[in-house]
Amino acid sequence: MSVARSLLNIIYNRRTVRKFKPVDIPEEVINMIVEAGQRAPSYNQAYSFILVSDKEKRKALEEICDAKYISNASTMIVICSDLNRVKKMFDYLSRNHVLTSDEYPVETIYSIFETGLATQNMVIAAEVLGFGTALLDCALVEAERVATLLELPKGVVPIGLLCIGEKDELPPKRPRWPLHTVFHKNKYREPNPYEIANYVEESSEMYDQEGYLMKYAGIPMKYKDYLVVKTERTKEVEKRYEKLSKFLKKAGFKI
Ligand SMILES: Cc1cc2nc3c(=O)[nH]c(=O)nc-3n(C[C@H](O)[C@H](O)[C@H](O)COP(=O)(O)O)c2cc1C
Repeated sequence: MSVARSLLNIIYNRRTVRKFKPVDIPEEVINMIVEAGQRAPSYNQAYSFILVSDKEKRKALEEICDAKYISNASTMIVICSDLNRVKKMFDYLSRNHVLTSDEYPVETIYSIFETGLATQNMVIAAEVLGFGTALLDCALVEAERVATLLELPKGVVPIGLLCIGEKDELPPKRPRWPLHTVFHKNKYREPNPYEIANYVEESSEMYDQEGYLMKYAGIPMKYKDYLVVKTERTKEVEKRYEKLSKFLKKAGFKI
């Protein structure tokens, strides 16, 4: 098999893995994965990756993330958008630069975009090396607590938690929108109601067939019903978002 074909196979067949074997990954391997992240296209390399190896900190992070459904991840890396270092670089270059104000709207979008690109390179590098990964949003949802735990300065925002480990499960491939729904030609094509309904029904059925919610969260619920609950605009969600918005604003991340 050619290198190109085998890399495509890895990409097409990757699944999020949440159950790992309790096996350590050598530091050199983690370095290789992070270095692959750095090779992603980048505007300002506005990211930082924080390996949480300290036992106490790792325990605290897992508590913050309520990550009981992730078993035995050998490595946890907090993925951060980092405009702190970029600002320092711009300060070095000139007095009058785009980050001199307290808010960085456009740079925020760039930094999140390039942090995502780097993260995906890390995910694929881990797969190429035979490991599995799970990306969690808890680092963003609980950004303030994660920032305190990891002593993040202004301008550094945790946006994800990357768990890496030796796979101890091979879940089925999860659903995706049909290619023609996401891939437009020359102009945007509105999805019709039938496509939306079809996708919701079929993808939910796939998650139910996997036993997804029961397996990872112990929730005896149909995936479609769970989606309704998960996306509901409750008072509690509004309060959480308000808190997060305040933290992001303080960090200079304002879109
Ligand atoms: C921004 C982002 C946040 C995510 N957050 C979580 C999470 O908190 N917990 C989790 O189990 N999976 C999380 N995931 C993983 C998705 O659930 C997973 O990618 C999706 O179900 C598709 O499955 P697949 O990766 O196996 O194709 C997240 C993925 C992304 C990109």
